[in-house]
Amino acid sequence: MKRNTLFPKLNGIMHGGDYNPEQWLDRPDILEKDIEMMKKAGINEATLGVFAWSMYEPEEGKFDFSWLRKIMDRLYENGIYTILATPSGARPAWLDEKYSEAMRVDAYGVRNHHGVRHNHCMSSTKYREKVEIIDRKLAEEFANHPGLLMWHISNEFGGECYCDQCVCRFRKYLANKFEHDIEKLNKAWWTTFWSHRFNSFDQIEPPYENGENSVMGLNLEWKRFTTWNMTDFMKHEIHTLKAVRPDIPVTTNFMTLYYGLDYHEMCKELDVISWDSYPVFHNDYEAPEYTYLYNAFNHALMRSMKPGQPFMLMESAPGLVNWQPFNKVRRPGNHKLACFQALACGSDTVQYFQWRKGRGSSEQYHGAVVDHLGTDDTRIFREVAEVGELLKKVSDVAGSVVDTPVALVYDWDTRWAIDDMRGMAQSTKNYDKTCVDIWSELLKLGVDADIISQQHDWSKYKVIFAPMMYLLQDGTAEKLKEYVANGGIVFATYLTGYVDKDQLCNLGGFPGQGLNEVFGIISEELDTLYPTDQNGLIWKNGARIRTEVKDYAEILRVKDATVLATYESDFYAGGAAVTCKQYGKGYAYYFACRVEASDMRALFTQILSEAGVKTKELAGVEYHVRVAEDKTYEFYLNYTTEEQYLTNVNGTELLSGQGLDGELVMAPGAVAVVEKQIGE
Ligand code: GAL
Repeated sequence: MKRNTLFPKLNGIMHGGDYNPEQWLDRPDILEKDIEMMKKAGINEATLGVFAWSMYEPEEGKFDFSWLRKIMDRLYENGIYTILATPSGARPAWLDEKYSEAMRVDAYGVRNHHGVRHNHCMSSTKYREKVEIIDRKLAEEFANHPGLLMWHISNEFGGECYCDQCVCRFRKYLANKFEHDIEKLNKAWWTTFWSHRFNSFDQIEPPYENGENSVMGLNLEWKRFTTWNMTDFMKHEIHTLKAVRPDIPVTTNFMTLYYGLDYHEMCKELDVISWDSYPVFHNDYEAPEYTYLYNAFNHALMRSMKPGQPFMLMESAPGLVNWQPFNKVRRPGNHKLACFQALACGSDTVQYFQWRKGRGSSEQYHGAVVDHLGTDDTRIFREVAEVGELLKKVSDVAGSVVDTPVALVYDWDTRWAIDDMRGMAQSTKNYDKTCVDIWSELLKLGVDADIISQQHDWSKYKVIFAPMMYLLQDGTAEKLKEYVANGGIVFATYLTGYVDKDQLCNLGGFPGQGLNEVFGIISEELDTLYPTDQNGLIWKNGARIRTEVKDYAEILRVKDATVLATYESDFYAGGAAVTCKQYGKGYAYYFACRVEASDMRALFTQILSEAGVKTKELAGVEYHVRVAEDKTYEFYLNYTTEEQYLTNVNGTELLSGQGLDGELVMAPGAVAVVEKQIGE
């Protein structure tokens, strides 16, 4: 696997984060101290300019970048590189005062007032024009600064706008999509139902809260449009910057499984993927292991967007945040584990929000490397500095990647369609949780699966898990057939292939579009279980213990699949619940009901072994591998409160510099990175 270093100038892992010197320009003493303390903490990067518009352009057309130049120069002189943000995430008051169309309109059609952030219309011509001017100025001023590593486009794109300009663009988007033929749209959206037929694209409104929101196709298309429009806005920014200097890479910071935008679409426009990770550590509702696994799932989703290259952990909180229901401080040692988990999953950066706590406004109590106390002798500072030291020891990891033969399909259209479908039980649909649980179970088996969309290239994987793949994009059914026919193994579940890309039900038996041939079954009914309902599985090989069925159970008509398990009770007792069919050179597994992911472990182990995928079960230790050229880097994270004793671990442990000859003893909270020559 080719080494793919994101930032050759850094010679290793990036350690840095959001820095807002513009809030401290009247305190040169503090700005000087920042540099001194950054060096102590092993910081080699600062993300500047996020939300700095009113300091760049205090009045319309009057620009001042002198303060930024001074800061960038000073940082650079001290070995600290810059990622420079475009300031479009929040607007100065003069802009909204003069161009009120830049402010967003809510789902009731009411325009917001000036304020907060991310409160802008992505369609507004005036806003786009103003953003283009400030971005061009920034690029002209700084694109050739030797300290500049990358552009950070805006900040955490999100939300939606229902203003007239957006409505107009939505109509145009639909007209293009349906080839200017309103009948095609009527058909795709099944509008004869409740007399919802349209005579022209101009009659279509977005799904206002108090308007039309019962047409599934419309709801889904609005979400797709919002992604398209946001991406278009982002492309506009990227284009402006690249016109000045095309070789500076661009990213934007994504958010944890953010619901409102299809990141699989947006990522296509970016050079590097980055995201902001704020797990709710030490909560009172789940085991710590689950918080880590959920975070790892997010990392894997991000890294899979650009195969063969590392991703970036753009923001994380060194101490605590200020927006969770309970803002608990990170316990000692947790910071190191979280940072190394990012690396283990394929990140080449550890970055924070934020370097220094501000004095006022809504984030004054948000955690930072430097507290209001202002010194470097705090617990948080020490933990950050310790991570800084450790990162230097693993600099060789930079540019290596996770290369895995297993993937899980997860996508936004399916998320949206399942949530919007009027059926099942709203409270137990749990598409995200189902995917996270299955992925986590694989990770517990030492299999760090990629997380991909229906559009990704599936051919490099030996096994694909596709839970609840309710919506089939054009071409997915064919792709799946071909994949299995050529020797791939697919694991699918209840709710596969019910609807097409417009959310029209597939006819002729679920899983639709011919997939019932591949699986050798037809799902005839879907039973929704109350939380108090009981059912179980009886496995045909008799080897496994009783498995509890919960939430959903499909009643199958078996055509030519082998039945692996049947239902234990109810009127469908004895009916098939888990099946497998050989199709061409591959196998298609179908799990027709929901069970705990841990209850599928034996089956997963069997499937992975059939595919020749190695497993490595390590109770209490999270395990990942990165590779580059002739080296592997194995990561071991012990987030339990007990010592863990591992065998069969060989190579050089980079953090301690020790050679390992089979044994690795890990104290609670310990991290190990073991380097090995391939073939050793
Ligand atoms: C992020 C955001 C930062 C900061 C941080 C606080 O979502 O990008 O600007 O607000 O949250 O946790």
